[in-house]
Order: sequence, then structure tokens, then C-alpha cells
Amino acid sequence: MRLKKVYSFDDVMLVPRMSTLNSRSEADLSTTVAGIELKIPIIAANMSSVCEESMVMALGQMGGLGVLHRMCSVEEQTVMIQRCINTTENIGFSIGIGDDWRERMEAGRKAGGNIACLDIAHGHHSRVIEILDKYFGIYKDFPLIIGQIATPSAVRDILRLHLVERHLKTIAFKTSIGGGSLCTTRIKTGFGVPTLQAIMDIRAEFPHVCVVGDGGIKESGDIVKSLAAGASAVMLGNLLAGTDEAPGRIIKSDDRLYKIYRGSASFGDKAMRGEQTRNIEGEETLVPYKGGVKRVVDSLLDGVRSGFSYGGASTIEELQDDIEFVEISVHGYKESLPHGK
Ligand code: XMP
Repeated sequence: MRLKKVYSFDDVMLVPRMSTLNSRSEADLSTTVAGIELKIPIIAANMSSVCEESMVMALGQMGGLGVLHRMCSVEEQTVMIQRCINTTENIGFSIGIGDDWRERMEAGRKAGGNIACLDIAHGHHSRVIEILDKYFGIYKDFPLIIGQIATPSAVRDILRLHLVERHLKTIAFKTSIGGGSLCTTRIKTGFGVPTLQAIMDIRAEFPHVCVVGDGGIKESGDIVKSLAAGASAVMLGNLLAGTDEAPGRIIKSDDRLYKIYRGSASFGDKAMRGEQTRNIEGEETLVPYKGGVKRVVDSLLDGVRSGFSYGGASTIEELQDDIEFVEISVHGYKESLPHGK
């Protein structure tokens, strides 16, 4: 048995450094994910209550990326891709590990999707290795986000694949396990690694692989911490759910407006996929209605740019360079929250 201490977003803070930025707008947030260039490091989660065509188009126009979910037929996913084509350069689409993975891949690629996301709760799995082995043989440099994984050993096992070394520039790993705001995986199974820790661990062992931080990002500060820890971008579920561009209708309750946000392993999503509704590892909840996604993302990016200024960085690479995190105590955490009253 081994035991080590691990850190979540709220366990740490970044230590400020001298800045030469004259204004926050000087911070360049552009990045590359699996070989795809993005102007902002924000990816919409491939969840049925977060990302369909409206979200792909809106995020694409802002310079980010939306990844279509796969809780629908291949035909429905194809139609969604086709609707996005003239609006945005980048269209992400999900594939699973079921027998239809090739069909989804072919359809998505032909329809105009330009980055695939292998979407599975436990990506460190022999079936994933089997599929990736075929994937690199057939699709070669077609950009691919592989998730979810949480450890360097998962990356190591995937990097052992025969052709993968040739395609390192066009793959990204999405981490981690059980950190999402609706996830019950850690409670149900006892397994997981905090998102921040997983990013740090993977980048420490594999400084050249591209990592996307996914799960538990609740504030712009968590985005800054993810990027500083080594992520090239973050995937957001909760923060983008409840916007106009997220699927689903607005619900009024007690004079407040909400939208539904559903975990991919929730009862609702499993039923939608026609899967048996056992092994539920996600919840379904109402999140406040937030209006247009552009306003939400702009506000997050203001916080991120401000973070770059505190970090004395004008690019993501500069932010990551020799950045210092400190562990904080419960008192430090309390002090970090507004506490004037
Ligand atoms: P946030 O915190 O942004 O997290 O809402 C979004 C991420 O959560 C993951 N996800 C799940 N994990 N059970 C899980 O254990 C689920 O039902 C579930 N649904 C989504 C996924 O990685 C997503 O991007």
C-alpha cells in the first residue's frame, strides 16, 4: 500500500510575481489542444445538458471549443456538426468505446468535425488501449482528446502503443476522475484524484503531453490554477450549464429561473442512452439560469487575465514557468473568502 498527500484547488494558492503587464488585456490566452489552436483555453464539456450545436458555435466564435456529447444517435450528432460548419472552425465531437465508435468517428469526421473526444468514465482501460491502437492506425493525426484519466501510469500505458509517438502532437489527455460538480464516483467507489493534482502529476512525468483539466472548476481562479499547474485548457460543465446556449428549457420555480444540469452517468442520461439504469455515478440538478454564454465566459476570462497579471505572465507558458504554489491552512482558506461581515 502507498499513501500520498494530494491537493485540490482550494488547498493551494499561487504566489504573486512581478508583473510588467500594463493592462490585463495584454495577457495572451491562446493555446493549443491536440494540435488545434484556440484563442481561449476554454472547452465546453461534452455533456447532454452543456454542449450541443449552439454551444459549439458560441464557444467557437469566442475562440474556444465545444465538444458535442454522444447521448444521441450517430445521425443526430452528424446533423449537429453540419449545423455548426459555417459558423466555427473548430467542432469537437464525442465517440465512445462501444461497437459504434468507428461509425461515430467516420460520420463525425466526414460531417466536418475536426477534433474527436474519446469519452469514457475510466479511460485507463484495456478496451481504450485496444481502440486507440486501431485509431492511430486509421485516423493517424486526426486530433483526439482522451479521457477520463487521472494518473501518469494511464498516460504511460497509452504512450506504449505502437504508433502513438508519431501522433503525440495531436492528442490531449483529459483529467481527472470524480472531480466534476455532479460526480458521485468518489463517494460510490472510493476512487479518484483531485483535478489539480492529476494535472500536476501527469505534467511532472510527461512535460510534453497536452493536458486538459476537467472537473470541479468553479471559479476563474481554478482556471488559473489549472493552467499554472500545466493544463493547456480547461473543460467546463457547471460553469456553462444554465446558459442560453446549453441545451434544455428554462424552468421557473419560486420566481427564480433555472436550467437542468445532468451528469453523464446520472439516471437521466443513462436512460436517454437506453442503457440500464444501474451504476449511477452522477446527479441531476437545477442550476441558476445565467443568460448568454458569452457574458459568462468573458467574465471568467477577465478573472483569468487578472490572474496572469498577478503571475507576471503574458502567456500560458510564462505562467507555467517556475510558478510557485503554496499549501494553505483552513484559516488561509477562510481568509481567502469574503469575510467582512
Ligand atoms: P464540472 O465540475 O465542470 O465537471 O461540472 C464537468 C465534468 O464532470 C465529468 N462528469 C461526470 N463525472 N459522473 C462522473 O463521475 C457523471 O455523471 C459525470 N458527468 C460528467 C465530466 O468529465 C465533465 O466534463
